Amino acid sequence: MPDTPASAGLQVRVARRIQLAEDILGLTLAPIGNTPLPPVTAGAHIDLALPNGLVRQYSIASTDVREGYQIGVLLDPASRGGSACVHRDIAEGDLIRISTPRNLFPLAASARHSLLFAGGIGITPVIAMADALHAAGADFTLHYCARTLRRAAFSERLECAPYATQVNQYFDDATPGARFDAFALLAQPSADTHLYVCGPNGFMDHVIGTARTQGWAEANIHCERFAAPTIDTGDDGSFDLVLAKSRSTIRVARDQSAAEALRAAGIEIPLSCEQGICGTCVTPVLEGEPDHRDMFLTDAEKATNTCFTPCCSRARGERLVIDL
Ligand code: FES
Repeated sequence: MPDTPASAGLQVRVARRIQLAEDILGLTLAPIGNTPLPPVTAGAHIDLALPNGLVRQYSIASTDVREGYQIGVLLDPASRGGSACVHRDIAEGDLIRISTPRNLFPLAASARHSLLFAGGIGITPVIAMADALHAAGADFTLHYCARTLRRAAFSERLECAPYATQVNQYFDDATPGARFDAFALLAQPSADTHLYVCGPNGFMDHVIGTARTQGWAEANIHCERFAAPTIDTGDDGSFDLVLAKSRSTIRVARDQSAAEALRAAGIEIPLSCEQGICGTCVTPVLEGEPDHRDMFLTDAEKATNTCFTPCCSRARGERLVIDL
């Protein structure tokens, strides 16, 4: 089972809280005592257990963790309680629980050149990637799009970075000529070049869709999403959830999630994001093959079929035996 704040996890102190940009808060989460935090690789994220009981994922903006993990949190106007809670309720000095870092968005070791694309708050893991590629002497270019300079987190850090000449920043309110042109940037697919894309779904769909249209290989396109993409549920069927410990069977209807079926049967499981992002609901699977639809488990974890996320994942067959 992967680590979540609710399982193993770490307690950290909010050492610094700053305004990174309009509606974007920067937090530095420092170790308590003298034990350093676990190291991170570029693209990693942590789960934060928020004061209101929700669990949310945030990418780490630097692989230098001597002062703590740096994260950026965008206040989402459509927040269901996550980002609003961070902005409102977390102060310097607070102690909070986090998971150990996980990396579902790692750099590919085989890339001879990397094209980094960040939209808005998607710059958080991408700036860590730029730092790491620069430190390794690797060849890369970073394209960063934001609505305005005021809303661009880490813009100044990028301007002052030793690799500043490899960074292009685009703002929607800039003069024509400085506009982001994915078609031009992706015009020449190369087997040696890997693309990394992070940002709002619309930005990511545009960049990834353009890359596919231009013939980029799927294996060279890497992305991390902050919101679940829409899934076609038209072919979903019903299945049985067999609860091994309580020796009972619950039918999950075709238009119902496994978590909803459990709740309807009076069985409460921990839930937070309810869209396969946070990992709060991860449940051990004893038999059967899950139809994994989450973005929390790694491909390797999914392949073992030993756990699944009942908030969004289903069964490939007629039944799934779970450890409840
Ligand atoms: S509740 Fe977040 S992954 Fe299921």
